[in-house]
Amino acid sequence: MTSAARISPQEGTPTYDLTVRRMDFEFSDEVPEYWYGNDPFRTLLLAALSAGFPPGECFFIDSVRQFRDQITDPELKKAIGAFIGQEAHHSKEHAGLNELMVRRGHAVNKIENEVARLMDKLRLKLSPAEQLAHTAAIEHFTALMSEQFLLHADELETMDPQMAKLWAWHAVEETEHKAVAFDVFKAVSGDEWIRIKQMLIGSVLFTLFSTRDFLSLLYASGHFWDARMWIRGMDHFWGRKGIFRRMIPSYLKYYRRDFHPSQHDSGAQLAKIKVRYLNQTA
Ligand SMILES: [Fe+2]
Ligand SMILES: [Fe+2]
Repeated sequence: MTSAARISPQEGTPTYDLTVRRMDFEFSDEVPEYWYGNDPFRTLLLAALSAGFPPGECFFIDSVRQFRDQITDPELKKAIGAFIGQEAHHSKEHAGLNELMVRRGHAVNKIENEVARLMDKLRLKLSPAEQLAHTAAIEHFTALMSEQFLLHADELETMDPQMAKLWAWHAVEETEHKAVAFDVFKAVSGDEWIRIKQMLIGSVLFTLFSTRDFLSLLYASGHFWDARMWIRGMDHFWGRKGIFRRMIPSYLKYYRRDFHPSQHDSGAQLAKIKVRYLNQTA
């Protein structure tokens, strides 16, 4: 385990507290097929997201790295190094989870290839500043998913212990680095129209692709027509107290001019999960 950027708070400047953790998960065949709540809906929803992480995180790394030399703030520069380290490890570990899913007959490799093609298109069509803004937008999604979903012990406890540790680790690091791409964008461009436009584009692409990928995995699993599973799943994510529904107000804050990722303070929650799942002191 290596600490890459631990920076003490200073008035008026952003602070970063990122740790790059090497995990080396080995997913054994003892992991149940539906490792989240023993439920195909929940498991395949996360599996569809995991499928796209290796190419997606590679895009995030590239989009930030191409501006590293333009950053003069030493704290932000150090945080970029840690951001790249964290995302590279996420890709590697999620590739392991993706392989496990493929061994079990879930075609997440097809999704991974499609996301890779989409990322290549974005590299061609978007300017470097737009690519960076796109990354900052998707990082807002991953921060929300982490803070309002995956860093909740009652969700993690319904997962197989190995999977809970993987998702807890990823969510902790997404929360730690949630401001890095955003701050790099502010430092090198700061164009509000680019920032908002890429959030709009990212929201449409992310929602369409992840929904389609999830439905295709569910259909192929043979559980697509299980009405009870659908009622449970829709209630869990989109019901009155549903996880995704609860995220909407925080998602919308990104469109405010004065938005900054640090406005969501998740320190206490983060500390609890680090102690519980990463054997780390707060
Ligand atoms: Fe990540
Ligand atoms: Fe990230």
